[in-house]
Formats: sequence, structure tokens, C-alpha cells
Amino acid sequence: MATESIKRTIIVALGVCFVCSVLVSTAAVSLHYTQEENKRLDRIRNIFIADGLPVEGVDLKAAYKNIIVPRMINITTGASVPEAALSRQISIESFDIRAMAGDPEYGKPIPEEKDIAGIKRMPKYMVVYLAMQSGSMEQIILPVYGKGLWSTMYGFIALEKDLRTIHGISFYEHAETPGLGGEIDNPRWKNIWKGKQAFDQNGDLRIEVIKGFVDTSRPEARYQIDGLSGATHTTHGVDALVKFWLGSDGYGPFLERLKEELHGQV
Ligand SMILES: Cc1cc2nc3c(=O)[nH]c(=O)nc-3n(C[C@H](O)[C@H](O)[C@H](O)COP(=O)(O)O)c2cc1C
Repeated sequence: MATESIKRTIIVALGVCFVCSVLVSTAAVSLHYTQEENKRLDRIRNIFIADGLPVEGVDLKAAYKNIIVPRMINITTGASVPEAALSRQISIESFDIRAMAGDPEYGKPIPEEKDIAGIKRMPKYMVVYLAMQSGSMEQIILPVYGKGLWSTMYGFIALEKDLRTIHGISFYEHAETPGLGGEIDNPRWKNIWKGKQAFDQNGDLRIEVIKGFVDTSRPEARYQIDGLSGATHTTHGVDALVKFWLGSDGYGPFLERLKEELHGQV
């Protein structure tokens, strides 16, 4: 009697485990598409925010199709890369920065002396987004990421078509402290970036996030952003990641090519 009840208990337990595992796997498989779709929508939402486009009450997928032209680029040369040119299928729509950076074929290590953003590895290719209006590019939206105090901060920076003026910045993933480093999400702070000059007349990269407040009476104010108070480390992180990605090891070669391309359009 006792043996039989132990046997039964084990059978029932195994049965419950089996049913649960089937339920969990079914849920995981059936939710996968929804999760991927939500990730895609979230990316679009953040591209729009960086570009100052409205996101509330907007059919994001339709608006994205109308306004945004994504382009895969080779980071080193800045040249466009058709999806089909890569040896393994990498889709523009599902491009995953983290996976690409870690990939032995599609990612590369960053030498320590150049790694000012503290990211160790980066993708060899990136997807950038051209915001179009009446057939011509109005802004270029560039994915960026770098170390803050507690986390790697992922976002976008948008430049005007002069490729010098900042149009907007937005972070979609980070774990900085709300009220301190988390103020990178504060619309008032993000608004300071709009209209600032990333590069000077000679094409030198000048943008910097300083400690404290910018003295607006000084000529260099056009290149400077107020630091976040009580969040010196996050401030340094944003300063470094913007400098890295807009510099020669980031989008520098691409921005040069794009300049030529836009010049050809005029
Ligand atoms: C609980 C806690 C969370 C913090 N979070 C952040 C943060 O997200 N980013 C940051 O730069 N500093 C953060 N700090 C503050 C730093 O440790 C450091 O004190 C601060 O960067 C000094 O900034 P200040 O020179 O602007 O005052 C945090 C401190 C504490 C105690």
C-alpha cells in the first residue's frame, strides 16, 4: 500500500512536470513572435523619439515605412552593405547590436586605448536610419551605446542633414538610478541637445557633456551640454559614448561618405 502510494505520487509529480513543461514551452513559442514584434515597435518608437517625431496616437509601423529608410553600413569603411552581401543572413529589421558585437564573425574587439565608451566590442556593421521628407534626407539617426555607472546605455542620436547639428538624443535601455543618472530620460535635459553643434566648421568633433551648467555667454556653449547633477559618472558615460560613436572609430567614415552623397544630391 505504502509502495503503491509512493509510486503514484512520483507518477503524478512527473505528470504535473510534463504538463507544466508543455505549457511553458507552448507559451514561449507562441509568445516569441509577439515579443519580437514588441521589440521592433520599441526600436521604432525610440528612433522616432530621437528624431523628435510624435509617438502618441501614431501608427508607428505605418509612419516608419513612410518616413524612415534604414541602411546597413560597414563601420570601418562607411559604405552601404546590401543584406545579401553578408555571408550569413543578417536582417536589417531584426538587427541586434548586442548579438552582432558578440558575434565572432560580425563583431570586433575595440583596443583598450580607443574604447572610451567602455564597450569592449562593437559590431562591424550597423543599421542607421535616414529620416526622409519629400524624397530627401532630413536627419540621420545613429544607434549609440556606452557604459554609464551601473549599466550600458543604449540609444540613438539624430543629426540634421548638415551632419553637424544635433537634432535629438534618446536612450531606450539603461539601468542608471532614477533621479540621478536616470535623468538621461528627462525630456528637459534631452531638449538641451537640440540645435547643439557636434562638429565645428573644420569638421572637428567638438560636442561635450560638461560637469555643471554651460555658460551660455561663451562661444563654445554651442558645443556643450549641461552635466547631470549628482550623476557625474553617467554624465561622463554619455560624453564618452557620443564622442566615440561620432568619432573616427564610430560613424566618422560613414558621415564622410554621407556628406559626399548629400552633396551629390544638391
Ligand atoms: C544609491 C546611489 C545611486 C547612484 N546612482 C548614480 C547614477 O546612476 N549615476 C551617477 O553618475 N552617479 C550615481 N550615484 C552617485 C555617484 O556615486 C557619485 O556620488 C556622483 O556621481 C557624484 O556626482 P556629483 O559630483 O555630480 O555630485 C549614485 C549614488 C548612490 C548612493
